[in-house]
Amino acid sequence: TSGKELYRSCAACHGENGESMALGVSKPLKGQTAKQILEKLNGYADETYGGSKKSVMLGIAKRMTEEDRKKVSEYISAF
Ligand code: HEM
Repeated sequence: TSGKELYRSCAACHGENGESMALGVSKPLKGQTAKQILEKLNGYADETYGGSKKSVMLGIAKRMTEEDRKKVSEYISAF
C-alpha cells in the first residue's frame, strides 16, 4: 500500500492536504517533517503521545504496521 493510499483514510479528519485541525483540536499535519509525524504516530501506538482526543488516534496508529506509519509520514511531509 502506498503512502497516498494510506492517507485516504486520514483525509476526512485531517483534510485532503493535511490542512485541517482534526475534530477541532489537532495541529495541522501540513508543514511537519516525516520524522515529526512518525514520532507522533509511534507515540500514539505506544501511548506516550497525545492530547485530549488521543483515543481517536490510538487505535488507528496501533493498527498500522511500522512500515505503513513510515510511508504515510513521508507522504504527508510532502504537502
Ligand atoms: C492527531 C495522523 C487519521 C483525528 C494526529 C497526529 C497525527 C495524525 C500525526 C498528531 C498531530 C500533532 O499533534 O501534531 C493521522 C494519520 C491518519 C489519521 C496518518 C490516517 C492513517 C485520523 C482520523 C481522525 C483523526 C480518521 C478522525 C476520526 C485526529 C485527532 C487528533 C489527531 C482528533 C488529535 C488527537 C489528540 O488529542 O492527541 N493524527 N491521523 N485522525 N488525529 Fe489523526
